[in-house]
Amino acid sequence: MGTGENVTGPGEAKRLFKYRKTKARWHPSMQAIPVPGIRRMVNMAAEMENVIHLSIGQPDLPTPKHIIDANIDALQAGQTGYTMDAGLPELLVALRDYYSKRYERDLTTDNILVTSGATEAMYLALSATAAPGRQFLVVDPSFLLYAPLIRMNGGEVKYIPTRRENGHQLDPDDVIKAIGLRTFAVVLNSPNNPTGAVYPQQTIERIVEECAYRGIQVYSDEVYDHMVFDEEKYPSVLNCGVDLDHVMCASSFSKTYSMAGLRVGWVISSQGAIKKLRRYHMFTTSVANTPSQYAGVAALTGDQSCITDMVNIYRERRDLIVDLVEQTPYMEGYKPGGGFYIFPDLPQHVDGSDLALRMLKETGVCVVPGDAFGESCTNALRFSFSASCEQIQAAFDRIIPWMHKQKF
Ligand SMILES: Cc1ncc(COP(=O)(O)O)c(C=O)c1O
Repeated sequence: MGTGENVTGPGEAKRLFKYRKTKARWHPSMQAIPVPGIRRMVNMAAEMENVIHLSIGQPDLPTPKHIIDANIDALQAGQTGYTMDAGLPELLVALRDYYSKRYERDLTTDNILVTSGATEAMYLALSATAAPGRQFLVVDPSFLLYAPLIRMNGGEVKYIPTRRENGHQLDPDDVIKAIGLRTFAVVLNSPNNPTGAVYPQQTIERIVEECAYRGIQVYSDEVYDHMVFDEEKYPSVLNCGVDLDHVMCASSFSKTYSMAGLRVGWVISSQGAIKKLRRYHMFTTSVANTPSQYAGVAALTGDQSCITDMVNIYRERRDLIVDLVEQTPYMEGYKPGGGFYIFPDLPQHVDGSDLALRMLKETGVCVVPGDAFGESCTNALRFSFSASCEQIQAAFDRIIPWMHKQKF
């Protein structure tokens, strides 16, 4: 049925009206965007009193003052226009210097594109390359953005499951074995959301080297790169491999400096890839928020002790929550090495979604069910420790006796 149909009578007109009203007008690719399970929980929590949220995916710690001041100063100086499309030149220089030093790598500003958060960086990378016939290897569980973006553009997702028993570590052999003729890219995220797993240097190196050898892209979401609790150095794709031809690294200020709402991130890759993404960026968000980019310069060039202070706080919370999960009946935990999440298992047959909903109703603690993050983890729950030790303790003071009463 087209839109310029001949209407033969009132019955036909009625039928057409109904057809137009009910037929989805959205592009079919919109089907790839899942209905977020968390939405139901958050809506319910909003109607309740005295809810403790261990569901939050953004830092609860305050943004350091010198960063806020730089944002306000930029506004007051009238910096309210667009920046250059690749980003504020001062920020590009600051990012170049910062990354070149951190990973002892010769970068130029042409290797960097400033985006509206790591979200836009991953959006550009994935949607500019996903296409029918191209397969993307995605860790399961993983951040909920990747698979829908790949599928919306006709790409195929092949999940590589990780398991709680080994702290949700990614076995590079599993990735390499999964590579086939259609494999176009591997998507990495370490420290991982939702598991907090930090992949060691050998894992990243092995995957990057093998992918470079086979002509496969590696997209690495490194937003939690500073939130590493037990390692001296963070293993990034930028310090593995000889060139950037097969690598795109996405990151942002959101987590490291508690700047999630300021919306500045970036992607680092070969100059050729950045040139392409820069054009696409102009047709999506044009530029990132200008005063926030000034705040970003202050973040990178200012005193870095704020990061150590914040990481120490997250580490203390990590240690507490690991302990509390261990004391909780029917929950199997592990020690996440980074980020601010732990993803304990429930018994195999327990539906995490049902349990999370009941837990919210009956204890007033809000967490995120595992099925929001993939296919292999319906019996898991994500707890965020972006909450104070007092809140975490109070949440488990409710959860532990409640779990004792469950009969699975
Ligand atoms: C793994 C991961 N990537 C990206 C983002 C979004 O980052 P940004 O605020 O920089 O867009 C998040 C936020 O929760 C995340 O957990």
